[in-house]
Amino acid sequence: MSKWTPSRIRALKGKDPFATVTVVDYTSALLADRAEFPLLLVGDSLGMTVLGHPSTLQVTLDAMLHHTAAAARGVKNALLVADLPFLTYQISDDEAVRNAGRFLQEAGADAVKLEGGAERGGLIRRLVTNGIPVVGHIGLTPQSVKELGYAVQGKSSSQAEKLKEDARALQEAGCFSIVLEACPPALAGDISRSLSIPVIGIGAGPECDGQILVFHDLLGLFPDFTPKFVKQYAQLSDRIDDAFHAFADDVRTGRYPGPEHCYGPGKSG
Ligand code: KIV
Repeated sequence: MSKWTPSRIRALKGKDPFATVTVVDYTSALLADRAEFPLLLVGDSLGMTVLGHPSTLQVTLDAMLHHTAAAARGVKNALLVADLPFLTYQISDDEAVRNAGRFLQEAGADAVKLEGGAERGGLIRRLVTNGIPVVGHIGLTPQSVKELGYAVQGKSSSQAEKLKEDARALQEAGCFSIVLEACPPALAGDISRSLSIPVIGIGAGPECDGQILVFHDLLGLFPDFTPKFVKQYAQLSDRIDDAFHAFADDVRTGRYPGPEHCYGPGKSG
């Protein structure tokens, strides 16, 4: 396998649907890259899953650069996309280009993702013109939680029309792919079929070109909160719980460490 590029991701359009996943650090990226996902996203959902914040709004540029750099050290082949966090691209296009550039220059990302529709067209054009590949993100946009909540988007016909226009505008501005979050499946299918770039769905049904899940959701690390669209492919929180208890029991009862875990005299290891 060789390194994935934006044009190779674009060429997945019209092929079998592909899977992608979020990563948050070196270990998660190493494991996900080994599974040969074409694209990995350092999503700002790490604000909740890793940093324990209530939303993505608290995630800073420094935190995203730090996590992206760790993830980049674990990735060989996947195309690594980093989320631009809240207020790093909204204030001015100059600031946005400078901030986005840091993800490529300092953190080792291959592309950035930003939230918003047609209103981001000018910025996306500028980023792409300056060599910064961009993934768009429309539908439920978590950085707008204070305005929109976490509601499914595109349910009314006016909302649906707006989403279709936004998707077209992002493609025209130069995005090589779009994340479409939380919208009715038929609308997601219409949008996917109307574009020549891959639409990666999350909570958007089966008619998208690809699907993305958050690392912690997919692996069942937070069993007490599972959004409707999530399928857990493992229940790692149970496995971790079992392992922690087994370790504690072994230590308490003297089963660990055993002779095989001890260094002998005069031996190097
Ligand atoms: O931050 C994130 O995890 C995301 C996914 C919802 C796609 O943007």
